[in-house]
Amino acid sequence: MKAVCYHGMHDLRVDTVPDPVLQDPRNLIIKVTSTAICGSDLHIFDGFMAPFMEKGDILGHEPMGEVVEVGPAVSRFKIGDRIVVPATISCGECFFCQKTLYSCCDNTNRMPEYGAKAIGYPTGGIYGYSKLTGEYPGAQAQYLEVWNADIGSVKVPDGLADEQALFLSDIFPTGWMAAENTQLEAGDTVAVWGCGPVGQFTIRSLYLQGAGRVIAIDEVPERLQMARDGGAETIDFAEVDNVCDVLKAMTNGRGPDRVVDAVGCEAAGHGAIDAVLDKAKSAVFLTTDRAHALRAAIMCCRKGGTVSVPGVYVGFPDKIPFGAVMNKALTIKTGQTHMPRYTEPLLQRIANGEIDPSFVVTHRVPLERAPEMYETFRDKKDACIKVVLKPWD
Ligand SMILES: NC(=O)c1ccc[n+]([C@@H]2O[C@H](COP(=O)([O-])OP(=O)(O)OC[C@H]3O[C@@H](n4cnc5c(N)ncnc54)[C@H](O)[C@@H]3O)[C@@H](O)[C@H]2O)c1
Ligand SMILES: [Zn+2]
Ligand SMILES: [Zn+2]
Repeated sequence: MKAVCYHGMHDLRVDTVPDPVLQDPRNLIIKVTSTAICGSDLHIFDGFMAPFMEKGDILGHEPMGEVVEVGPAVSRFKIGDRIVVPATISCGECFFCQKTLYSCCDNTNRMPEYGAKAIGYPTGGIYGYSKLTGEYPGAQAQYLEVWNADIGSVKVPDGLADEQALFLSDIFPTGWMAAENTQLEAGDTVAVWGCGPVGQFTIRSLYLQGAGRVIAIDEVPERLQMARDGGAETIDFAEVDNVCDVLKAMTNGRGPDRVVDAVGCEAAGHGAIDAVLDKAKSAVFLTTDRAHALRAAIMCCRKGGTVSVPGVYVGFPDKIPFGAVMNKALTIKTGQTHMPRYTEPLLQRIANGEIDPSFVVTHRVPLERAPEMYETFRDKKDACIKVVLKPWD
């Protein structure tokens, strides 16, 4: 089959690789009909995960497709079903899965020694996301072996198009959990850094969960426009001296009640001193993450508020204003998304017409064009916001 393979930083290729074979009775295999590129994949593309990657690793974790083979222990799906598969792999049985902390699953990381070293304890598995999450073959391929298929995957009703259901694999649940993690009270004002796909789903989820007002921050015009289409007010951070001053002025001097960092470890900084230092230090491997958005979110949040962080950090970001966290009595909530909590309820919301996730798609291309589309997506060329890959076109 064809698959998008890692060959080094900024070097992805579409290779011909062996088709997957069933390795466990709880697994099934799908013929992938649609699969997407995520902002998290860009961290791999840009070399942030290099120590944990091997040449030939298949990327991708946002798949859907048709079931073509089913292990004998799978009970919820049969051959021919059209399913969406969550990015994270969970056992459904361990201490963490029992608490619905599915991304923290204790049984699905096949290389626990890496996670134990890097972050204290290994997390659960994620498709196509390095040795840190079990080095599972990824979903930007013609076929995918789905692990523990009964936990979290959902069958798509006939009436829904691929692009309406596909984002149940990751970015819709991620935006939804990011909104839940703000611990908002009805009517609250929430500031969201980053209007990429995750930011867009966060904005819409916040309103569905009762936010009064969402203020979104980015510098890319079409992303800011999409945020406004979702009901947000916007700030172009490249146009203002200090985002915090603008947020203060917009909130009678008190600051947003809740803040969300939907940017993660590759934040742009436009000359802010902390961002200049991040850039210099990361160029010589003295820091692992560029955390300008996280610092800004913490500083701008009102006293007693909550900082929700769906953005991915990989290592040891520095200069985090922990004095502000402590003295302002902030709560920080974060995590890789606990997908199986959300896939079924959010599918219902899509089927009920409360939201149509296909709004975010700007590019649909055959799998062969994936390597160039990583660059287009990262550099926001051609007004790119979300790329869907079609492995059989
Ligand atoms: N927690 C999870 O399970 C999960 C799931 C999916 C994605 N993610 C993470 O969420 C983050 C966003 O993903 P995405 O797909 O939307 O990626 P993206 O790269 O398309 O979006 C990031 C956006 O942030 C903007 N940005 C950069 N610097 C900024 C700054 N200083 N202030 C405000 N905006 C700034 C960029 O212009 C861009 O629009 C990534 O870190 C990704 O890894 C996490
Ligand atoms: Zn993702
Ligand atoms: Zn588990």
